[in-house]
Amino acid sequence: MNIQKEMLEAIEKELQKQVARLDQTRTKQFHEMLTYHMGWTGERAGPEASGKRIRPLLVLLATASMEASPNWLHAKPAAAAIELVHNFSLVHDDIQDNSDKRRGRTTVWVNWGAPMAINVGDAMFVIANQAILDLAEYYPAEVVVKAASILSNCCLDLTRGQFLDMSYEERSDLGIDDYWPMIGGKTSALLSACTQIGALLGNASEDEQEAYRLFGYHLGLAFQVQDDILGIWGDEVLIGKSTASDLVEGKNSLPILYALGRHGKFAQRWAQGPITVDEVKAVASLLEDEGGRRYAEEMSENETRMALEYLDKTNPRGEAGAAIRQLANMLLKRKQ
Ligand code: IPE
Ligand code: IPE
Ligand code: MG
Ligand code: MG
Repeated sequence: MNIQKEMLEAIEKELQKQVARLDQTRTKQFHEMLTYHMGWTGERAGPEASGKRIRPLLVLLATASMEASPNWLHAKPAAAAIELVHNFSLVHDDIQDNSDKRRGRTTVWVNWGAPMAINVGDAMFVIANQAILDLAEYYPAEVVVKAASILSNCCLDLTRGQFLDMSYEERSDLGIDDYWPMIGGKTSALLSACTQIGALLGNASEDEQEAYRLFGYHLGLAFQVQDDILGIWGDEVLIGKSTASDLVEGKNSLPILYALGRHGKFAQRWAQGPITVDEVKAVASLLEDEGGRRYAEEMSENETRMALEYLDKTNPRGEAGAAIRQLANMLLKRKQ
C-alpha cells in the first residue's frame, strides 16, 4: 500500500475515535450531526462527502519526511486535531457565507438550523483541542505544549481572516493588497500549522520547522487563490459547492479585486449592487475577458513556486518527501 493511502486510513480511524467522545446516551443525534458533516453518515456518505483530507495528510507527510522522524503514526492525534479545526471552520463558514452546499450535500445549518450548526462547530473545536493533547502518549510535554500553542495561535489567525473576509463584503474601496492578509488568516494559518506541527513531530530542527511553516503558508495562499478560481469557474459537481455564491454574496476574491483595479465594464457592474443568480454566467465571463482568471492563475502558480522553494531548503526525505512535493503540485492543478 502506498504511504498516502495508509495515512488516509489512519486519519479516518483517528478522527472517528476522537469524534466518538460525543457518542453517549442522550446526545446520539448530536454525534450524528458531526458524523454527517465528516461524511461518514447520512445520504451519500463516503469519501466524496468527507472532503480531501489534505491538511491531516500534510501533517503526517511532513512528520514522515524528516530525517530524525519517529513512527509517523505517533503524530496521528495532531493530524486529527487539525482536520477537526478545519471542519469546525467549515460548519461555521457555511452559516457565515449563507452556503447551502458543501462536499456535494446540504450543509449542517440547512439540515438542523443555524443554532444547532453553531453548536456542532463548537464541539468540533473543543474535540480538536482535546485530540492534540493525546500526543502526550508518545511525545514529551514540551513538544505537546508547542504543538497545542501553534494550533491555538493559528485558530485566532483564522478568526481574524474570517473577520476580514466578512467585513470586506460591505466594502468598495479594496485593492489586491487587502486580499493577502485576509487569506493569510482564513486559509494559510491552518496550512502553515499543518506543516510546522508535522515537522515538529518529526523532530525537525528550528530552522527546518520554520522552512516547513513557510512552505505551508505559501501553499495555503496558492490553495485559496485556486479556491477563488474554482468558486467562479469550477464545475459544481466536482467542487461540491455552488459556483454562484461568491459572486452573489459579493465576496472580494482575487479575480474580482484584480478586475476592479482595471476600472472596466466589470467594475461598473459591481458598483451597481448585488449580482443576481441569473446574471452570474455573464458576469463570470466578463470577469474572465478582463483578465481576472488569468491573473489569479498566475498568482497561484507564483505562490506554489515559492512554497516549493521553502520545501526544498529542507530536503524532505524518502517516499513521504516525494509525496509532499507531488501533493503541492497536484493542489495547483486541482479541479475540486
Ligand atoms: C475548503 O477547503 C476551504 C478552503 C480553505 C478553501 P478544502 O478544499 O480543503 O475542503 P475539503 O475539506 O476538501 O472539503
Ligand atoms: C475558506 O473560506 C476558509 C475557512 C472556511 C475558514 P471560503 O468561504 O473561502 O471557502 P469555501 O469556498 O466556502 O470552502
Ligand atoms: Mg468564507
Ligand atoms: Mg465559504
